Amino acid sequence: METAEIRRRWLAFFEKNGHTVVPSAPLIHDDPNLLFVNAGMVPFKPYFLGQQSPQWDRATSVQKCVRTQDIEEVGKTSRHGTFFQMNGNFSFGDYFKEGAITLAWELVTSSQADGGYGLDADLIWPTVYEDDDEAFGIWRDTIGVPAERITRRGKLDNYWHMGVPGPGGPCSEIYLDRGPEYGREGGPAVDEDRYLEFWNLVFMQEELSAVRAKDDFDIAGPLPKRNIDTGMGLERMATLLQGVDNLYEIDEVYPVLERAAELTGTRYGVSSGHMVSESHPDDVRLRVVADHVRSSLMLIGDGVTPGNEGRGYVLRRMLRRAVRSMRLLGYEDPCLPELLPVSVERMTQSYPELGTGFDRISQIAYAEEEAFRRTLAAGTTILDVKAKAVRDGQGPDGSSRPELPAADVFQLHDTYGFPVDLTMEMAEEQGLVVDRTAFDRLMQEQRDRAKADARSKKSGHANTEVWRDLRAIGSTDFRAYEELTSEASVLGLVVDGTRVAEVEQGQRGQVVLDRTPFYAESGGQIADEGVITADGVVLKVLDVQRPVKGLIAHTVEVVSGSLREGAGVLAQVDPEWRLSACQAHSGTHVVHAALREVLGPTALQSGSYNKPGYLRLDFAWGQALSPATRSEIEEVANLAVRKDLPVSATYMPLPQARDLGALALFGETYGDDVRVVEIGGPWSRELCGGTHVQHSSQVGALTLTGESSVGSGVRRVEAFVGIDALRFLARERAIVAELSTLVGARPDELAERVGLMVARLKDAERELDRARKEQVTAAAGNLTERAKDVNGITFLGHDAGDADAGDVRTMVLDLRGRLGNERPAVVAITGAAKGRPVVVVATNEAARGVGIRAGELVRVAASALGGGGGGKDDIAQGGGQDPSKVGEALSAVEWRVGELAG
Ligand code: SER
Repeated sequence: METAEIRRRWLAFFEKNGHTVVPSAPLIHDDPNLLFVNAGMVPFKPYFLGQQSPQWDRATSVQKCVRTQDIEEVGKTSRHGTFFQMNGNFSFGDYFKEGAITLAWELVTSSQADGGYGLDADLIWPTVYEDDDEAFGIWRDTIGVPAERITRRGKLDNYWHMGVPGPGGPCSEIYLDRGPEYGREGGPAVDEDRYLEFWNLVFMQEELSAVRAKDDFDIAGPLPKRNIDTGMGLERMATLLQGVDNLYEIDEVYPVLERAAELTGTRYGVSSGHMVSESHPDDVRLRVVADHVRSSLMLIGDGVTPGNEGRGYVLRRMLRRAVRSMRLLGYEDPCLPELLPVSVERMTQSYPELGTGFDRISQIAYAEEEAFRRTLAAGTTILDVKAKAVRDGQGPDGSSRPELPAADVFQLHDTYGFPVDLTMEMAEEQGLVVDRTAFDRLMQEQRDRAKADARSKKSGHANTEVWRDLRAIGSTDFRAYEELTSEASVLGLVVDGTRVAEVEQGQRGQVVLDRTPFYAESGGQIADEGVITADGVVLKVLDVQRPVKGLIAHTVEVVSGSLREGAGVLAQVDPEWRLSACQAHSGTHVVHAALREVLGPTALQSGSYNKPGYLRLDFAWGQALSPATRSEIEEVANLAVRKDLPVSATYMPLPQARDLGALALFGETYGDDVRVVEIGGPWSRELCGGTHVQHSSQVGALTLTGESSVGSGVRRVEAFVGIDALRFLARERAIVAELSTLVGARPDELAERVGLMVARLKDAERELDRARKEQVTAAAGNLTERAKDVNGITFLGHDAGDADAGDVRTMVLDLRGRLGNERPAVVAITGAAKGRPVVVVATNEAARGVGIRAGELVRVAASALGGGGGGKDDIAQGGGQDPSKVGEALSAVEWRVGELAG
């Protein structure tokens, strides 16, 4: 049975049984504790906790999930996939244990002809929590499973929670016995490969206050209602129903594996029986490729772009691991263009939006592969140089295995993005060891620094405890959309992360008010500026953040007076500042809409930043925008400003916003009302929490100032708006005027005149170049006389002064030609244009015949110059740092030639 059919039957079965079908939430969810949605229940968490009331008592979904903590296990076991789908049925205070168990049993054991999955009832082994007699009784008496097939297990296996504070409860898991060829008999407690768990029924009834480990947590008390949360692994059911060994072999994954095997000429599954753990390394690599390609597809589909931290880093790591696994299997060409289309072909059945978005998705993935290929090339050269330096520095006895310093490995990783496992492997190939522990320590130090930086930047101090305490006392009424001035009272004062009763003149700290007109930085818009005043007190507002939900903290400097907790104040946003901020944020939406109008709907925003007068916007696009395209975008944007389109903000439920086509890539919770900002109705419709002008004409003017690349498949446009746009244009006009005077031409003649000047300059340079080459060749003619005999090899070494690499190469080739092929000959010439030394070495056929290779010789020379190099056997080039060492470099080559000949 195809995976898509298993999914369809699931939803149909639960819909028939009174459940509302809820579409999968995006993989990115606004829960600060979660990198990605990792279980079907995540979008429903507020309902379980009683924070929100659901629109339904029963719901069902097939939720996209990503778990990456076991990424190293991928391919090595039959069960670990980074992307998977969780089929769930949920009861919010409606049916409980008996309902959940009977529904599950019916779906699993009904015949396939009747719409079920048709599993053999005699092969099913349920487990229950150790003291859950009720669930045990239902399985035995209501369902009729013999008691010896029902296992009681402890917290580690049969109590489910999210791994963080939240809802939890005892659970009952359902296993299928796959038969003796998969392992030992005796039930799930004995062998989890033979007895494969495919469905977990959680009796969600408690709230957890602290979670230290899977089996070590504190229960705060019962939840408001007793709920059901179940999760059936779609891939696991597919494994069972398709009669395959593991999840990499199901219909949604295997075609990628098969294509990868074909491309690399690898035979999959040669040595593996049913024990995945004993697989051949090539099989593991093929599975990694298949898994990671699919996960990357799904992540990019949901708006993740490769980056160096958080979600972006997870994606980058997966794409790189896939590319690298293909390389290890011997495939060096770009592989994603071969594999991603195979994956999307399989996945569009269930996710049609992947098909329509594939241009954008593939652009991002392919660009990332290209970038990684460049990194690999650069890193490999650098690693070679470092490795050689280590080997050269070794004592002659070479007693212990030489070590590549952890600091070098870290630098390769940090500066060049070279993956550490790759460095380790390549160092190993060169006979070097790497101190992994020292490297990990450097990584940890860097992470700690980054974390401390980020935290102190955002809230003024790393400690969030203080904010949670304050939040327990009250919350801030956020009035930025309605007013610029609010009367408020001081809820709390914080200095250096600690609550204080008073702040005094000259001090810096955070003020929390019960009401504020200040916009806190979010959604790319920076915080408002302004003042907070009271009798004899003036505070200047420097930054505004939301350290925890419901609380707004103003970072202030006390200009005069002193302020006490509880005091009444007037909070005033600078109106000029706010107007410019609104212009910039509305301008961002206008530019986004204009981009999509001109480039098409795939030009989706992936990030933005705006502050008074200025905006920048990152969007998915593979190539640079031509000047004509830029002008067109600017024109469309300014026409929208001129049309004076109305700007509105309305709240509505997420599904309604989606139906209207509002642009949002990031997850919102079901049931939450979202804010939709429109400019000219459907022309621009985005989910947004920012502040905006009321009519597009208030943006004033808009001028694009730059367009650049900010990583794989992502471009950035920058613009000035309002008065800053006009000031920018005035500056450009002044530059044109100055140039006109300098060149002596009217502004409209400037381009032609300068064009002519540049052309003349180029001609002159070409002429100079030709003359120099003639000189070089003429001088080279005499050089052959200087060739000497080194142990029977003709060796010609020469320092060509400040000749550049091109000239040096011409000379080397010319001289090698002149020396003929009767005797083995080597030519080595150095040059140092602009103080950067280069060396080129060439060998003739006879020299190569006696085993003398240019590539090897050039490394000897380059190392003397303090650099690296490489090339083929017949000609190779290198470079270095120190031009005073060219003589040494040539002697080193001569010496090595002598050694090789002798
Ligand atoms: N939340 C449970 C799990 O993830 C069941 O959906 O296994």
